[in-house]
Amino acid sequence: MNTTPAVANDECAPYRQRRLLLVERMKASGGGVALIPTAPEQARNRDTHFPYRADSYFQYLTGFTEPEAVLVMAVGPGAMASQAILFCREKNLEREIWDGFRHGPEGAREVFGFDAAHPVAELDARLSELIADQPALWFSLGHDAGWDQRIAAVLNKVRAESRSGKRAPPAIRDVRAELDAMRLIKDATELATMRRAAEISANAHMRAMRFVAPGRYEYEVEAELLHEFRRHGCEYPAYTPIVAGGANACVLHYVGNDRVLKDGDLLLIDAGGELGGYASDITRCFPVNGRFSGPQADVYDLVLDAQAAAIAALRPGATFADPHDAALKVLAQGMLDMKLLAGSLDAVLESESYKRFYMHRTSHWLGKDVHDAGEYKEGEHWAPLAPGMVLTIEPGCYIRPADDVPEAFWNIGVRIEDDAVVTAAGCEIITAAAPKKIADIEALMRDARGG
Ligand code: GLY
Ligand code: MN
Ligand code: MN
Repeated sequence: MNTTPAVANDECAPYRQRRLLLVERMKASGGGVALIPTAPEQARNRDTHFPYRADSYFQYLTGFTEPEAVLVMAVGPGAMASQAILFCREKNLEREIWDGFRHGPEGAREVFGFDAAHPVAELDARLSELIADQPALWFSLGHDAGWDQRIAAVLNKVRAESRSGKRAPPAIRDVRAELDAMRLIKDATELATMRRAAEISANAHMRAMRFVAPGRYEYEVEAELLHEFRRHGCEYPAYTPIVAGGANACVLHYVGNDRVLKDGDLLLIDAGGELGGYASDITRCFPVNGRFSGPQADVYDLVLDAQAAAIAALRPGATFADPHDAALKVLAQGMLDMKLLAGSLDAVLESESYKRFYMHRTSHWLGKDVHDAGEYKEGEHWAPLAPGMVLTIEPGCYIRPADDVPEAFWNIGVRIEDDAVVTAAGCEIITAAAPKKIADIEALMRDARGG
C-alpha cells in the first residue's frame, strides 16, 4: 500500500541516469522495446496481503513503488530518440480513500520524470503497437508464467497482422542480463543508502547484545532488532531474521526463533534491515551470559581470523573467489588444530572435508536483493572485483555432535558476516560499527548490565 509520493522531482536524477545507461546498452545491441513489470501483490490469506514490495529491477529504473505498474523503454536504433513510458494505475478517489494515494499516469510522469505515462489497462493494446516492426523485444522470460503468456499473446496479435504489413520483433533478448551487469556496480546514491542501512542494522545488533540474557526468548531478541530497523526508517527486514541460540546456530536457515536462551549458550543473529529498497546483511555471535567459554572463544576467533584473511584478499583485480579461498585456508588449518579433522592442510582443501563444518560460500553480492543480481563468473573464470561492487564476507563454522568430534565443541555454531564495498584502494566495511572482537563484545554486554 502506497500513501504518499515516494520520489520528489530532484530525486529522479539517479533513475533517469540508469535508464540512460540501459538505453546505451540496448542500442549497442540494435535497440528495440524493453518491458520491465513490477512485482504482483501477493495474497497472504483471505483478503489480507503480504506487505507489498516492488520488483527490484523495476524499482532500480523508476523509484516508483506502486503495484500494477510496467516500465516500457522504446529504444530506437542509432541516434534515434528513446522513450521511457510508465504504465500505472489510474487515479481513483474511491480506492484512494480506502488504500491510499495513487499518482495516476499524469502525476507519475511529472514526479518521476518519464517521457510518457498511460493507464496500465491500456498496456496490451499499446504494446502491440509499440513492438510492431521493432528489431527486438527485451523481456526476461521464465520468471512469471502469467507474464510469459501475456507476452506470447501480444506477439501473436502482431503476427496475426502480418498481412497488413506489421512484423513482430524477430528477437527476444533478456533485459535482466543487461540490468544485472548494471546493478553489479553501485552508484553513489545506492552506496549512500546502503551505508545508512548498514549503520541502522549494526545498531540493531548492538541493541540485541545489550538486551540478551539467560531466560529471554529468541523472539524477544528478534523484536528488538525489528524495532530498531523500523524506528530508523527501514521498510522491512531485508530477509527473515535468524535468531539462533545454542544448537540452533548449526541450522543455517533457522527462522523458528521461538526457543529460550540458556546460560552458557552462544547466540547467532543474522539480520539486516532494508532501507529505500536496499538490503543490509549482518551476522554476529555472542554469549547469552556475556562471557565466551574457552571452546566457544576458540571457534569464534578461528572464524574471525578467517574473516580477516578474506577481507585482506578483497581488492580490485582480485576475483570473487579470492576471499573465499583465503577464508578456507584459515578455517581448514583451524579445524586441524582443534582436532575436528585429521590429515594435511592440502588434503583437507583438496578433499573438501572442511565442508562438514563449513558448507556455504564466503560471499554473495548485496544490493536491492540480499542475494543480489549479478553474475559470479565471466565465462570459465570467477568475476574480477571492481570498485562499486558490494559483497558480504561471512565465513562460519558449525559443529554438530558426533563421536569423532571433541565434545567441548558440540553444538557451537559461529558465523561472522559484514558487508564490504570494493574501493580503489581495497574495500570499505560498511557494517564495522557492530563489534566483533571478543573483548569488545564482552565489554559492551558488561556495560549494558552495569558492570
Ligand atoms: N542472511 C542471508 C545470508 O547471509 O546470505
Ligand atoms: Mn549473507
Ligand atoms: Mn546473513
